[in-house]
Amino acid sequence: MGYRLRPEAPGDPVMRGKLILLSSVIFVLQVVCCCPEKCRCFSSSHSVDCSQRGLVEIPSNLPPQTLMLHLQDNQINRLPAFAFRSVPQLIALNLGNNSLSFLASAAFHGLQHLQVLNLTQNSLHSLESELFHSLPQLRELDLSTNNLSHLPTSLGKPWENLTTFAVQQNHLQQLDRVLLESMPSVRLLLLKDNLWKCNCHLLGLKLWLENFIYKGGVIDGVICMSPDPWKGKDLLTIPHELYQPCSFPSSDLDSLRVSQPGSAHQAVLRSPESRSECELKPKPRLTNLRRAVATVVIIGIVCGIVCLLILVSTIYGCTYAALTAQNQGGPLAQIHELSTTEGKELLDNSPA
Ligand SMILES: *[C@@H]1O[C@H](CO)[C@@H](O)[C@H](O)[C@H]1NC(C)=O
Ligand SMILES: *[C@@H]1O[C@H](CO)[C@@H](O)[C@H](O)[C@H]1NC(C)=O
Ligand SMILES: *[C@@H]1O[C@H](CO)[C@@H](O)[C@H](O)[C@H]1NC(C)=O
Repeated sequence: MGYRLRPEAPGDPVMRGKLILLSSVIFVLQVVCCCPEKCRCFSSSHSVDCSQRGLVEIPSNLPPQTLMLHLQDNQINRLPAFAFRSVPQLIALNLGNNSLSFLASAAFHGLQHLQVLNLTQNSLHSLESELFHSLPQLRELDLSTNNLSHLPTSLGKPWENLTTFAVQQNHLQQLDRVLLESMPSVRLLLLKDNLWKCNCHLLGLKLWLENFIYKGGVIDGVICMSPDPWKGKDLLTIPHELYQPCSFPSSDLDSLRVSQPGSAHQAVLRSPESRSECELKPKPRLTNLRRAVATVVIIGIVCGIVCLLILVSTIYGCTYAALTAQNQGGPLAQIHELSTTEGKELLDNSPA
């Protein structure tokens, strides 16, 4: 009977021992585990510095409360989906001077609070349009010094808070104003040192930038690389009148493709031709002028004919009225007679 009560007594120290072991393991884990071997963790500022460590991938076991993560000057060459899942509080992320050439579209998923993303000095060729959808709080995005030759028309949902957008030193030839319109708060745009092709397709950008500067925005300049007449010139200094809207805008092309799937090939074949055609030709305005002149001439002729008809009918009406009045010896004829007799009297009296 006594035995039945006793087992509790030896069980207690064992349980206690296990608990102590567990808690010390947790304690050790908390202190040691959560700073990656090659990084330095600053608990007061919640920042982690892993720069210049020869890293090829994102280190594991980052402290979950990290706010700033410095990963610049490494050789990181890929970011898998949810790469920063373990640090959801991140506010600033520096991935500059790495070897990134491709970013999975879900790479930054989960970074609800990220405000600064630095991707400068990598080897990015293109970006997926979904890439930054998960960064609603982003304020600064630095994509400078990459190999970007094209940007999607949308990189995020409207980026309410984005104030700085940097894409200088890439291979961009054009930039759709729709992309800039999705950044209503942007104040600093760095666009220098690209391959800007200042043809009609850049007119939208030119107009947008003029308005942007007028509203106090700051840019570093869009220096044209082609076509030849504008090489080396700043897009903003090219006079408007030398710029014409594209004769065959891409939206037309798209609608053509959609509405006539059979003729999709033709549309695709025609697009490069129309692109070269649009370089510097003031055609649309001239045809508009011609149309206006033709309209004026036609209206003039029609008015002339109508006026002539009115005149003819008036003369005819008057003559007819006069003739009928004479034939009937009406008052008009009497007046006529009166005036003629008076005239005769005057003539008769004058020599006397
Ligand atoms: C880029 O990182 C490498 C180390 O990976 C470093 O040697 C080099 O100086 C860095 N370049 C710049 C411009 O900071
Ligand atoms: C990104 O990093 C580079 C190099 O460290 C720095 O010059 C640049 O100002 C940073 N960009 C932003 C937006 O902070
Ligand atoms: C923009 O920033 C403000 C202030 O920090 C914040 O309240 C707001 O939620 C942010 N906008 C978005 C879309 O996250």
